[in-house]
Amino acid sequence: MTYIRNAWYVLGWDSELDAKPLARTICGVPVVAWRKLDRSVVAMRDACPHRMLPLSMGIKEGDSLRCRYHGLKIGGDGIAEEMPIKTDPVNRSICVETFVVAQRHRFVWIWVGDRALADQGLIPDLWPCSAAGWTFDGGYYPMQCDYRLVIDNLMDLTHETYVHAGSIGQPELMETPIATRVEGDRVFVTRWMAGIEPPPFWRNALGQNGLVDRWQICEFIAPSAVIIDVGVAPVTAGATLDSHDQGVRGFVIDVMTPETETSTHYFWGMARNFEVGDAGFTARFKAQQGAVFLEDVEILEAQQRSLHANPGMKLRAYNIDEGGVRARRVIERLAASSTPTR
Ligand code: FES
Ligand SMILES: [Fe+2]
Repeated sequence: MTYIRNAWYVLGWDSELDAKPLARTICGVPVVAWRKLDRSVVAMRDACPHRMLPLSMGIKEGDSLRCRYHGLKIGGDGIAEEMPIKTDPVNRSICVETFVVAQRHRFVWIWVGDRALADQGLIPDLWPCSAAGWTFDGGYYPMQCDYRLVIDNLMDLTHETYVHAGSIGQPELMETPIATRVEGDRVFVTRWMAGIEPPPFWRNALGQNGLVDRWQICEFIAPSAVIIDVGVAPVTAGATLDSHDQGVRGFVIDVMTPETETSTHYFWGMARNFEVGDAGFTARFKAQQGAVFLEDVEILEAQQRSLHANPGMKLRAYNIDEGGVRARRVIERLAASSTPTR
């Protein structure tokens, strides 16, 4: 399996982490996390130091958690506060492994690798998720597939034509050539559709008729995020691949956290710079996007089952797969090195 251990991964949405313990396995490591009264989030291994019952089954007492089996009480710092027999002296060497967490861009991030290397400056820069003038929301799907299959999927949007035929598929997606480039640990797949009729969604977003330039720029950010810069601008606005803030713009946000070798926590959403104050639009769009991404979930889980059922076959890469192939190469290189990774 190719996990990059020394990297930040999304543990959950800011809205998911609350006082109630959340159990989530990250890169094969069982984690329990909760939010304390001061709004900070703590995360630790989801196993009681006594007999290893998952702590996530425990009972919250203030900011601490009491194991549901024999009642050992663990503080937010992972250290025992009370023994099963309350009169027994507390032994502070009884403790749980804790993990470094950080809150940024509407997500709670976790580092399950070497904690000495956990530099917050390495958190992927998902700037549209928290920048002024932008609105961001989305959802979460557990997926029964290797996280790299999701990356392949997002780095090759030609699949929209068939997987999303009834929603966002558009013939121009197949007709416009794509360009792939690698910059260090980042991989870009760009598609520029000049002077086309916008699909209904983008015409509405722009609020006017007429031909537009439309773009889709997929960017892979190690260890496992893909953000897709999408939008349209009136042809008269003179937008270019390098500079296209003239019309309406959004970023499709996809962050894939490996759970196990064949399962993934998929966090998805959309950040946009139009109708930013319209909560109804946000909710409607989230529902639409969730329905579109469920179509991918169905395909990718079936693909994973097929990989398992056909061990003698190998994945083949055609021209359309170049973005995914290059992203996988970055992952392999970083997984093989011990260097901490953005
Ligand atoms: S297993 Fe948790 S107190 Fe015994
Ligand atoms: Fe898709």
